[in-house]
Amino acid sequence: MNPPEPQLCLFILSGEHETLPQAELCAALEAEGYAFTIHNRHRRILLLRVDPEGAKIATQRAGLVNHASIVAFESPTIEETILQFMKKTKFEQWLKPQNRFSVKITRVERESIPIDVDELQGKLGSQIWHVMNGSVEVDLAAPDVLFLGVIAGNLFFFGPHLASRDRVGFFQRRSPHRPFFVPSAIHPKIARVMVNLSRVAASDRFFDPFCGTGGLLIEAADIGSFPIGLDIDISILAGCQKNLNHYGFNFNGIIADARAPPIRSEKVEAIATDPPYGRSSSTKGSAVVNLIEKSLTAIADTLVPGGYLCLALPLEYFKEEIIPKDSFEIVEMHTMRIHRSLQRHIVVLQKKEQC
Ligand SMILES: C[S@@+](CC[C@H](N)C(=O)[O-])C[C@H]1O[C@@H](n2cnc3c(N)ncnc32)[C@H](O)[C@@H]1O
Repeated sequence: MNPPEPQLCLFILSGEHETLPQAELCAALEAEGYAFTIHNRHRRILLLRVDPEGAKIATQRAGLVNHASIVAFESPTIEETILQFMKKTKFEQWLKPQNRFSVKITRVERESIPIDVDELQGKLGSQIWHVMNGSVEVDLAAPDVLFLGVIAGNLFFFGPHLASRDRVGFFQRRSPHRPFFVPSAIHPKIARVMVNLSRVAASDRFFDPFCGTGGLLIEAADIGSFPIGLDIDISILAGCQKNLNHYGFNFNGIIADARAPPIRSEKVEAIATDPPYGRSSSTKGSAVVNLIEKSLTAIADTLVPGGYLCLALPLEYFKEEIIPKDSFEIVEMHTMRIHRSLQRHIVVLQKKEQC
């Protein structure tokens, strides 16, 4: 069987960060084994050539990608031009007789284009019905195929919807909904981004050497990987166990120091972690830098060659010298504002094939 043809797919990226949503999506596609090429980017719209199945799976596992759809056509946001493109579109490639369908139009930018979205939705729906000779039915509540129209300023994209982010899941996994909660717990969407940047695949072993309440482990387990968590604090690790069990996940918990993890060499396929900040430390952070430096060398050994490690660090603790250069290449780095006085770097490292 020939591999599926890549198609032009559209992704609506979250506006929460400039670079992380695209980086996360590309990493998720890589983790799932889907090749892609970047076609274009218009602010929050990313266009990739990719197998639509890959686009769907990567969007379902992403934290900062809102929707994905196939691009049937791209047009200026002018009603007459859109309707002309509609006439030329072969809808029978997505719709079969008796199928139910609906059309939804969304705007991704604030500037107002003088177009009546509700009216256009109705017109596009009736156009599809005509092109299909009345063999299909409109069903707004439970369509077999949802067609998504996206207005991005003066550009309009239209095509069948593939997937949307699992909003409910992320809401249910927020720390106040877990049995064990401490204020330093990472937000599930950010945890998911870091897990995706670690390129973990389902059935891989995923390791967090500073696992705390298990925010990253929960997201990694939700993708289908096997989570291994290490923490120095026995009560925190017990809470972490409760949290994972609460969501029905198995977990291997280890009480140890991340500077000496009792894990065999090259045992894990992916790592993501959020080390302690020690902001209140009287050593003004030097103890934290030292801890991170020592633990990075130790956990490098646990990772398979070619495997990825995603690390979140407050800006003031990140110095390139703390990365063991004989073990890792720096792949990418993003800066993220958590609140007024805390900015973090999210750094992705790849273990060298030959250390
Ligand atoms: C910032 S928290 C991790 C938060 C976690 N991502 C979550 O979602 O809850 C850092 C954790 O590192 C643990 N820790 C501190 N020093 C450690 C060490 N030397 N080895 C292992 N864990 C350590 C702390 O107990 C704390 O739970």
